[in-house]
Amino acid sequence: MDKNGHPFPPRFLDLKREIAASFPDFKERATQAWKEVIEELVKFSEKVSEVGTNYIPQVEYAELDELSPDELEMIKRRGCVVIRDIVDDERAIAWRETLREIVKVNPGIEGVPENDKQFFQLYWTKPQVQARADPKLLKATVWLNHLYHDKSQQKSDNVDLSIPLTYADRFRIRKVDSKWGFHPPHIDGGTIERWEDPAFRKCFETILSGDWGAHDPYNLQGRLDARSSLYGRPNQSTVFRTFQGWLSMSETGPTQGTLKVFPDVLLSNAYIILRPFFKPVAPAESSDILDPKNWEIDLETTEFPGIWARDGGWAGPHPTPTSHPHLFLEKTMISVPQVSPGDAVFWHCDVIHSVEEEHTGTEDSAVMYIPAVPFTEQNADYVQRQKDCFLKAERPPDFPKGPAEAGFVGVATVNDVDNDLGRRAMGLPIAVA
Ligand SMILES: [Fe+2]
Repeated sequence: MDKNGHPFPPRFLDLKREIAASFPDFKERATQAWKEVIEELVKFSEKVSEVGTNYIPQVEYAELDELSPDELEMIKRRGCVVIRDIVDDERAIAWRETLREIVKVNPGIEGVPENDKQFFQLYWTKPQVQARADPKLLKATVWLNHLYHDKSQQKSDNVDLSIPLTYADRFRIRKVDSKWGFHPPHIDGGTIERWEDPAFRKCFETILSGDWGAHDPYNLQGRLDARSSLYGRPNQSTVFRTFQGWLSMSETGPTQGTLKVFPDVLLSNAYIILRPFFKPVAPAESSDILDPKNWEIDLETTEFPGIWARDGGWAGPHPTPTSHPHLFLEKTMISVPQVSPGDAVFWHCDVIHSVEEEHTGTEDSAVMYIPAVPFTEQNADYVQRQKDCFLKAERPPDFPKGPAEAGFVGVATVNDVDNDLGRRAMGLPIAVA
C-alpha cells in the first residue's frame, strides 16, 4: 500500500510481472544488478558527503563551449550544474523587484503558504516572459539539450536540440526564516509512468536487463515518445524537459532555502527503477536492511515504494530513508553552491531533488523556474497550446486551473518577447523585417 494506506491496484503487480517476463533471466540478472548498485551507492555516499557542495559542477556561461570532454562527462554523470553569469546581476535584480511589486499591487493572487505567500500561481508577468525570452538563457538551454544524443544515430525531423522552446512555470520569493516542508526529495516528470509507459520504460531498459552500468540517461531514444503524464494530473509536466532549472534573482547559498540534489543520475536511476522489484526481509529499523543479502525479488506484491495516489493519478517517486535506504539521503542530498543574481541551476529530469526546509540567510531567496526544453513533436504541440494561454493570460495547460492573470498589473504582452529566438521558443511568429 502507499504511504497514505491506500492499496496499489492489482494491475501494478501485473506490470511488474510483465516487465520481468520481458527481460531474459530477470530474476538472476536484476538481483545481481541490485547488489552491485547498492555497493556503488555505499561508496558514493561516503565520497559525496566528504566533498559536500563542491561536488556540484559550476561553470561560467561564457566558457560553455570551451569545456573539456572530462568536464562534460562530470556534468553529465552528476546530472546537475550551476551556470554563472547568464544574465546581468542588475537585470535579474530588477526582475525580482518588479515581481515583488506585482505581487503587492494585484489583490487575490494565489500562492503558498496561504497566510504568507512566497510561491505564486503566476506565469505571465513581464519579468517571467522576458527571462524566458532572454537569448543567453535560451542559448544555455540549447547547450544543455546537446548533452543528450540519439544513440540510434537516426536523423529525425521531429527533434532538433538546437531549437529551444519555453515551458512557462512560476517563481518564488522565499523569505528569511521561512520553513518549507513541501519539497522533500522527489523526481518530477513522470511517476508510475516510468515503468508503466512502454516508451518511457525504454529509457531504463538497460537497468531492467541487469546491465545497469550501460544505462545512458542522455539517450534520446524513449524520451521523445515517453508519456510522462498518463493521468493528466495537474502540476505533472507533459513535456520533455532535458533539464529542469531555475534562474536566481538573489544571493543564495547553502542553508538559505536553496535546492538540494542527489548528484549521480546513473546510480539514482538504477536504484529507483529496480526498487519495486525487491523487498526487504530484515526489519526496516535494523541496520541489517542495508545488506543486499537481506533483500529478495518481489514479483508477488503490488508495491511501488515512493509512489502514491494523488488527484486521480500518481505522485512520486518520493524516496525516503525508509522506502529507499540505500540512497542514504541524509548524506547524499547536497545543497547547490552559493549563487548570485543572474546565475542559474539546472538538474537532469531524472535527478532526485528537494528544497532546504530552512532559510537561515539574511535576504529573500528568489528564483524563476525555467527549464531546458528542446524542439520535439510533443513539446512543440504543447508550446502551441501554451501560447494560446499566453495570449489570453490564462494558466498554461499542465498547471492547476485557476483565475487568469488577464487584467493584472504587470502582465506581459507579445511585445515583451523582443527577439526571434524568444519568439520561436514561445511558438510566436517570427517578425519579418
Ligand atoms: Fe521538483
